[in-house]
Amino acid sequence: MNKIMNFPSFNKCKIAILGLGYVGLPLAIEFARREYCVSSNIKLNRKVIGFDINKTRINELNNNFDKTKEFHKEDLENLKEIIFTNDRELICDADVFIITVPTPIDSAKIPYLGHLRSASKIVGEAIKKRQQNYPETSQPVIVYESTVYPGATEEVCINEIEKASGFDSKKDFYYGYSPERINPGDNKLKLTDIVKITSGNTSESSEWIDNFYKSIIKAGTFKSKSIRIAEAAKVIENTQRDLNIALINELSLIFSKMNIDTLDVIEAASTKWNFLKFYPGIVGGHCIGVDPYYLTYKSQMIGYYPEVLLSGRRINDSMGEKIVENLIAYMLKNSISVLGSDLLILGLTFKENCTDIRNTGAASIAHKAINYGFNVDIFDPNVDPKEAKQFYDLVILKGLKKSQKYSAIIVAVQHDEFKNITHQEWLNLVNDQYVIYDLKGIVPRNLKVIRP
Ligand SMILES: NC(=O)c1ccc[n+]([C@@H]2O[C@H](COP(=O)([O-])OP(=O)(O)OC[C@H]3O[C@@H](n4cnc5c(N)ncnc54)[C@H](O)[C@@H]3O)[C@@H](O)[C@H]2O)c1
Repeated sequence: MNKIMNFPSFNKCKIAILGLGYVGLPLAIEFARREYCVSSNIKLNRKVIGFDINKTRINELNNNFDKTKEFHKEDLENLKEIIFTNDRELICDADVFIITVPTPIDSAKIPYLGHLRSASKIVGEAIKKRQQNYPETSQPVIVYESTVYPGATEEVCINEIEKASGFDSKKDFYYGYSPERINPGDNKLKLTDIVKITSGNTSESSEWIDNFYKSIIKAGTFKSKSIRIAEAAKVIENTQRDLNIALINELSLIFSKMNIDTLDVIEAASTKWNFLKFYPGIVGGHCIGVDPYYLTYKSQMIGYYPEVLLSGRRINDSMGEKIVENLIAYMLKNSISVLGSDLLILGLTFKENCTDIRNTGAASIAHKAINYGFNVDIFDPNVDPKEAKQFYDLVILKGLKKSQKYSAIIVAVQHDEFKNITHQEWLNLVNDQYVIYDLKGIVPRNLKVIRP
């Protein structure tokens, strides 16, 4: 390509969103349904192409079903200006490409960038065709939203785009990075209520991308000084949270040896204005337990071994095992037999009131308990039993068995359904000799409860 750099039309552009998961779908829907620019009230006439390689997801969305439960049937039925597709041809005339694909770690905790590379290749091929079909059109703008380590957008993704398109990133397209900070399942703070960090490869593209997001984000944007700063800002948000939880987890391990209830300690300590209220527990999911490894990986690549970050990760990753060991210690001390006894785990998702079981800590508790010889039942009304079987080889009860009595219960997740269980209903679930390990502090204290 050899033409003067220019940007797509701000209000009439076509936007392709690659990856329609927890991050991509809300973003696609917000761009599609926004008729007037939030910041300037200009009329918008944009089209959105929601692209995902997962055919099942596309079929479900085309049938107005969102399995992440972020959107109801009616939300999807009433959408105009958007199509959901897995046909790569349909994104070739897009002007703006936003990539929201997963960035997991592998079994050795090394960042797996395969999804990002493959999405970048798809975009590279698309912009090449776009140029062939519409030689006079503007330069495309490509924005990454997936969480990565500082440098990944330029070192990995943009390289892939250049390879697939044959274009030069300095003159043939614009690019940027704008991390997503939503918290799925949160009904108060949605996508447009959270300040969006934006960045671009040139001052002009930073400005364009910033305005572009400002058109949908009510909370406004923060224009970062560079792509690397924006990448680093996102990854430290979750790293900080991970470390704060690791600290309180370590404190809970110390306190449990001293028979001190950590939740009571937190209640007392948090009467000081600057005490940070974090709770002990299992850190799971695809963000807090994963993102720090992106940073520690990059850190080691550049010759610095991150002592604090990795020790925090080790503590948080070991909590599942520690919880089962604490439970067994209590049972043995109280003459409750362990081998072959029945244990109920309440909750399998990685956090409350959501359906997501990726990297869930509750699964590690279940596997450890099975290894120690418990008969384990798991109940979670939010989880698709097929997914639990497929990802963890775990069976989920369809409902709590009426006649079944357990020697031990672990409350792993505080779904609203569990918070509403009454004193009598807890008693109906247990044998005469029992213990309830309440990781979330939701079970009445006058039952035989242990807490972190
Ligand atoms: N879920 C969150 O709470 C959250 C919050 C902030 C940031 N993030 C980050 O956002 C990114 C996306 O996370 P998510 O939770 O939405 O993931 P997700 O697994 O829910 O969805 C990702 C989607 O991308 C699709 N996909 C994979 N490869 C693709 C490709 N090459 N082309 C098109 N589609 C492809 C998958 O089929 C899937 O539907 C990750 O980097 C994550 O760390 C997630």
